[in-house]
Amino acid sequence: MKAMISTSYGGPEILDLQEVATPLPQPNEIRVKIHATTVSRANTMMRTGKPYIGRLFMGLKKPKHPISGTNFAGIVEAIGTNVSKFKIGDKVFGENIETFGAYAEYLCVDEKGIVALIPDGVDYKEAAGVCDGALTSMNFLRNVGQLKKGQRILINGASGSLGTAAVQLAKKMGGVVTGVCSAKNIELVKSLGADNVVDYNEIDFAKTGLKFDIIYDTVGTRTFADSKAALAKNGTFISPVLGFPLLMDVVKTSIGGNKKAKFSATGMLPLEEQKELFSELMTYINQDDYHFIIDRIYSLEQIPQAHWYVDTGRKRGDVVISVN
Ligand SMILES: NC(=O)c1ccc[n+]([C@@H]2O[C@H](COP(=O)([O-])OP(=O)(O)OC[C@H]3O[C@@H](n4cnc5c(N)ncnc54)[C@H](OP(=O)(O)O)[C@@H]3O)[C@@H](O)[C@H]2O)c1
Repeated sequence: MKAMISTSYGGPEILDLQEVATPLPQPNEIRVKIHATTVSRANTMMRTGKPYIGRLFMGLKKPKHPISGTNFAGIVEAIGTNVSKFKIGDKVFGENIETFGAYAEYLCVDEKGIVALIPDGVDYKEAAGVCDGALTSMNFLRNVGQLKKGQRILINGASGSLGTAAVQLAKKMGGVVTGVCSAKNIELVKSLGADNVVDYNEIDFAKTGLKFDIIYDTVGTRTFADSKAALAKNGTFISPVLGFPLLMDVVKTSIGGNKKAKFSATGMLPLEEQKELFSELMTYINQDDYHFIIDRIYSLEQIPQAHWYVDTGRKRGDVVISVN
């Protein structure tokens, strides 16, 4: 089969399309013929091996798993002898966060992993991105921020993968949503249901006098310190982008103060917790009015170009790789 291989850390040029053996399913595994995968920001970080701490899990000097790619959507075309949840021909999607391997024509995954049937009416390209933006935002809204009905939430980076999902999920959870994006994405964010939209080039939300129960900085361009004025009493600043300042703020605010800063690494949560989030997420994406935002579609051969584009930090929603 064809697969995109990385044998070192670096820029998109290290990605190399090669012919490799098609994997054989273990007794507990299904083999998925991949129709779509994505290039997420997390994937580009895995490619660079930065921040360096990630190499403790991914391989110190070079990637432990040379076929990268974590999200997949496709069709089950072989099953191991002990598989009971899926059958050949099922259309499935999910995430393979421990061993990757989705930048390929075939992938074997444990049937008890993060994998489910694609809901009716959702296509492979739409399903492929769900485990990045939507699953992460589900974790941040439900577990980390604990968004409650009627609460005011500001979503910074509302046009990205996490952001476009967060706006929709937060509305469905009963939040009053303010999205922050640039002028070119205002219509998109409004169309996803945001109650208010702020252009970050025109207005600094922290200087408006408005207060929010939760500030969800999906892209890590703000800090707890520069957003604190916009947090209501007992408000929480949550962000999936860990840097030293956020780490310090998480530690400091855990000791005292009524405003908190919080972080979580969704892919590092125990599998059972991720599966619980995934199954709750399914109830939202099964609804007709959930919009999957796809910015660009590339082919398997074009994965390096897709990485270049995602590295610009300008994508809207997901960048999808159409395979087969
Ligand atoms: N901790 C976790 O569990 C976890 C899981 C998954 C991902 N992540 C991390 O989450 C982050 C976000 O991922 P993503 O895929 O959602 O990002 P993304 O899609 O690449 O974000 C790009 C979007 O951000 C907007 N943006 C850029 N600068 C901005 C600014 N200053 N203010 C507001 N919006 C701005 C861009 O819009 P404009 O072009 O209009 O500026 C663009 O639409 C990444 O760092 C990723 O590694 C963490």
